[in-house]
Amino acid sequence: MSATPTQPVETQWPTADSSRVPFSVFTDAAIYDREQEVLFRGPNWSFVAMEIELPKPGDYKTTFVGDSPVVVVRDKEGTINCVINRCAHRGSTLLFDGSGNTEDFTCAYHNWRYDLAGNLKSVAFQHGVRSVGGMPKDFEMCKHNLTKARVETYYGLVFATFSDETPPLVDYLGERMSQHIARVFNRPVKILGTYSQILHSNWKLYMENVKDSYHASLLHTFFSTFKLNRLSMEGGVLVDGGGGHHLSWSKRGTDSAAGTDYEKPGELRAQLDDFSLADPTLIKSWPEYEDGVTHAIQSIFPNFILQQIQNSLAIRVLIPISVDKSELFWIMFGYQDDTPEQYDMRLRQSNLIGPAGLVSMEDGIIGNFIQRGIRRETDKSAVLEMGGRQVEDQQSRVSEAAVRGFWKAYRARMGV
Ligand code: FES
Ligand SMILES: [Fe+2]
Repeated sequence: MSATPTQPVETQWPTADSSRVPFSVFTDAAIYDREQEVLFRGPNWSFVAMEIELPKPGDYKTTFVGDSPVVVVRDKEGTINCVINRCAHRGSTLLFDGSGNTEDFTCAYHNWRYDLAGNLKSVAFQHGVRSVGGMPKDFEMCKHNLTKARVETYYGLVFATFSDETPPLVDYLGERMSQHIARVFNRPVKILGTYSQILHSNWKLYMENVKDSYHASLLHTFFSTFKLNRLSMEGGVLVDGGGGHHLSWSKRGTDSAAGTDYEKPGELRAQLDDFSLADPTLIKSWPEYEDGVTHAIQSIFPNFILQQIQNSLAIRVLIPISVDKSELFWIMFGYQDDTPEQYDMRLRQSNLIGPAGLVSMEDGIIGNFIQRGIRRETDKSAVLEMGGRQVEDQQSRVSEAAVRGFWKAYRARMGV
């Protein structure tokens, strides 16, 4: 019997546009379950790995598509496959390590064995013991493979989907979002490190935060205090993918008030002139790309983020765990041709971001501030009117257009 699909959940959206978001979407467990089915197991691409995480045949990594556990693996032919991390026999989890190398997938429980494409290859005691017992004669191995995802890669990024209806990855990304990925992955990269952090908030609250470019100089006082990212800098927001994808960008040093004094050690001063960094090398940077963009945050629906904050480059993937809990995975990277000085600078700047980062620890907790505030206010709604009520490109980052875009895409896909 196939799983009973969840029913659309009744939610009151106060407006037809996305300028209001009912708080219940962050607190209702039935909505969370439906998202897993409709969004994460539905026609969307989920990032699962970088190709360089799986350099050799047999290399695998365990991760998640939504909250479904998956294994991503490079098979003997070099193809990258993605399967649900669940044995087709009685459902046991197959692999527990975060990563490793294997010849095949052999389940610990009764030793059903699968090849690296997820095909069932052998069943222990299939023919019984001394021809007694065993599986029925008409048991067909090919009907008991692992659940397979479609996999596509783009510039070394591996995405998976469990739906036949998901369009090809490049079409899903669209031209402008693809171009930005190509801009960042313009030459061989190397991973500098990975980590994850638990967020005590609904996954959509973090995605809103990522797409909300106007909180940066307000919530992250480190940025504005040390004149690193101010809304007066040249920048903008692109919104694509039916609203679901976004790219916000800015160029440091393009507002006259800021100047470039952070470049000169010892002259770094806050507005009040009584703060300075004891060690300005923390924010010392070099122009990463020819276009002069110093900050670029891109999100691809539903939960992929590509970050350039000066020379701190990272992929972030947000994995939902439950209606009020998620895990944010970070992959920090640089380029293979980085000099030792550039490598050091990337690592130092990465202290600005991450769970304890001087500018991003706030992003980790602010969703929980909301989660606490709305707990018994689920008949109320969030207000998203900064920059208007539309979903369109913005010349200014003082806008919630990309957040509205997320909700537009979400409502279209969820049918709400
Ligand atoms: S549950 Fe995997 S072999 Fe039985
Ligand atoms: Fe932020």
